Amino acid sequence: MNIAFFDAKDYEIPYFEQYGEGAGINIRYFKTNLSKETVELARGTDYVCVFVNDRVGADVIDALESLGVRGIALRCAGYNNVDLERARGRIAVVHVPAYSPYAVAEHTMAMLLTSIRRLHKAYNRTRDFNFSLNGLVGFDLHGKTVGVIGTGKIGRVFIDICKGFGMHVLAYDPYPSKEVQAEYLPLAELYARSDIISFHCPLTAQSYHMLDKAAIDQLKKGVVIVNTSRGALVDAGALLEGIKERKIGAACLDVYEEETDLFFEDNSGHILDDDTLARLISMPNVLVSSHQAFLTEEALSNIARITTQNIKDLHEKGECANRLV
Ligand code: NAI
Repeated sequence: MNIAFFDAKDYEIPYFEQYGEGAGINIRYFKTNLSKETVELARGTDYVCVFVNDRVGADVIDALESLGVRGIALRCAGYNNVDLERARGRIAVVHVPAYSPYAVAEHTMAMLLTSIRRLHKAYNRTRDFNFSLNGLVGFDLHGKTVGVIGTGKIGRVFIDICKGFGMHVLAYDPYPSKEVQAEYLPLAELYARSDIISFHCPLTAQSYHMLDKAAIDQLKKGVVIVNTSRGALVDAGALLEGIKERKIGAACLDVYEEETDLFFEDNSGHILDDDTLARLISMPNVLVSSHQAFLTEEALSNIARITTQNIKDLHEKGECANRLV
């Protein structure tokens, strides 16, 4: 079994080497993303393995099919970057539905605490022997109201963490669950009542820009926005305006709607063309991490184990429990 592995990063290769070898899989690692310009690299392979910023649109699926590639293995949960309808009945698509909801939920809380207790500022100050506390006043999470959008695997872990902090939890999900200890509300009511809003739902046609200018107008003044889900859930331009107008008190962003050509790469020697991102990063109350929420040893190990098993199942049985189409 040969696999073309796109967007390969040093931190994940050892895990795939370990599990791939055990499963009899020969992996060719490519640093480049999969796109219509790079799809030719998959020639002679049975499967391609892709991540969140590989662009697997209709043109790439057509090209993969004509190269004889049998399956696309996403080594992530989200699949908004793959044209599933184009793939249906032509090329199998599998994903990793869960690998560590704790990794993402814990990073969400880490970003929230860092932001509201100004730890990112304190770290830089004390390294310069600046021990002043001016400008570092935070607020207690205890007693605050958090609005959780999406109460699936990650949203539920985040809710448990918030409950541990003594927060009141509101939730919005088109498919509410009786198991979730939260007050489900219509989205507009959640927006109007939350001190903190955290996104944990997939990016779909319905959820695209669910936080836009009209939604921001409904928010409490000083609200903290946390997005560790998918960038385009939030209209970044509207978010920036909300911050400039002092309506939004802080934003913690692990994802950004135009991240594809930037995140996961060292762009420190380059001039950033994206004015919205540059302005957001320049704000003292905006914290950005580069799609890092999943990045724990446990998650990487689970991703490699499940992805190689998915491919093995597809290859040997023609079926896989984690098959999307
Ligand atoms: P999940 O599938 O377990 O839960 C998603 C929940 O969102 C479901 O309960 C679903 O009913 C709900 N939902 C669907 N459409 C919605 C809408 N329009 N509004 C509100 N809720 C909606 O997914 P899981 O594992 O909890 O992951 C959530 C998201 O986290 C993923 O879709 C992915 O985008 C993101 N993610 C981010 C990572 C990172 O490193 N930053 C890593 C892994 C996932």
